[in-house]
Amino acid sequence: MTTSLDSLTVLVTGGAGYIGSHAVLALRDHGIKTIVIDNLTTGYRWAVPADVPLIVADIGDFAAVSRTITQHDVGAILHFAGSVVVPESVENPLKYYANNTANSRTLIEAAVTNGVRHIIFSSTAATYGIPDHVPVAEDAPKSPINPYGMSKLMTEQMLADVAKAHSINYCALRYFNVAGADPKRRTGQSTAGATHLIKVAVEAALGKRDHVSIFGTDYDTPDGTGVRDYIHVSDLADAHVLALKALIEVPEESLTMNCGYGRGFSVTEVLDAVDRVAGVKINRKFEGRRAGDPDALTADNSRIRARLPWTPAYEDLDIIVTHALAWEKELERRAF
Ligand code: UFG
Repeated sequence: MTTSLDSLTVLVTGGAGYIGSHAVLALRDHGIKTIVIDNLTTGYRWAVPADVPLIVADIGDFAAVSRTITQHDVGAILHFAGSVVVPESVENPLKYYANNTANSRTLIEAAVTNGVRHIIFSSTAATYGIPDHVPVAEDAPKSPINPYGMSKLMTEQMLADVAKAHSINYCALRYFNVAGADPKRRTGQSTAGATHLIKVAVEAALGKRDHVSIFGTDYDTPDGTGVRDYIHVSDLADAHVLALKALIEVPEESLTMNCGYGRGFSVTEVLDAVDRVAGVKINRKFEGRRAGDPDALTADNSRIRARLPWTPAYEDLDIIVTHALAWEKELERRAF
């Protein structure tokens, strides 16, 4: 039975991916024994530190996951593995219900069967859909407007039901707009053809793109462009370590918490920050709205602030952009 973080081995699914690899670093920086399972379809082997065992397998493979749990005496799982591209989920919903929902079910079954006591799950603000008002709190209606959000919400529901029936507790963390990179440049957002605003903008700042499109200038926001709550990936990774401690300390409690800073920046403000930090003037192209984008999406983060001793270290748009830009240069230097 799990009693403390020191005696625990943590399995990170999707630990070779963007957010997962930052979580691995956070666990490792806290001296927590960590192993990774990743099928490397979108993750990178180099993103897993050499002293962290990497099992190349799919989380939908019950036997492989069970073997990993028993061989390494895994007591907790941080579950990041999944598909994350919203428009793709609209075109290919079954991929999302397979990778995010069905495979999560298999993982959870392997966890329950083999005595894992704690699961932390990567959920998303996409579970809210277009909220009636912002900042949005956890108990606001959940009305996903795409299969991505629904596939994650279904996994939240499975976890809630499983936690009632078995000796396991969980924490679902609903991420807002994750950005930035490890300040020590050990990992970062490396996906080619990324669509996320800050990633796209730092690519443009380095001349890898000739412009950034601004999708919509007629939103109900102060400057008419979309407002989002950008959170630094390393602060998010730290929240996972703290959530894990909370699950261990109070095994009868499960948690669902927003992960955002609780304040928003518009697309224009983000591009201004990239211009300022990079010392360039990115070419901006004004285009129509992208389907399914809410005007503004920011987190009511009072729950995580009250429940965890979470003190973000990088709660500053310029710092997020600085680290995103530094990682983009690192990608060039390493010629990935
Ligand atoms: N945007 C642009 N130009 C771009 C890219 C984005 O103007 O080239 C705008 C978007 O319209 C939006 C904002 O910048 O207003 C942020 O867009 P992102 O694509 O960076 O992120 P999203 O807010 O669309 O998506 C995020 C997460 C998803 C999650 C979703 C939930 O990345 O995983 O929030 O609403 F599902």
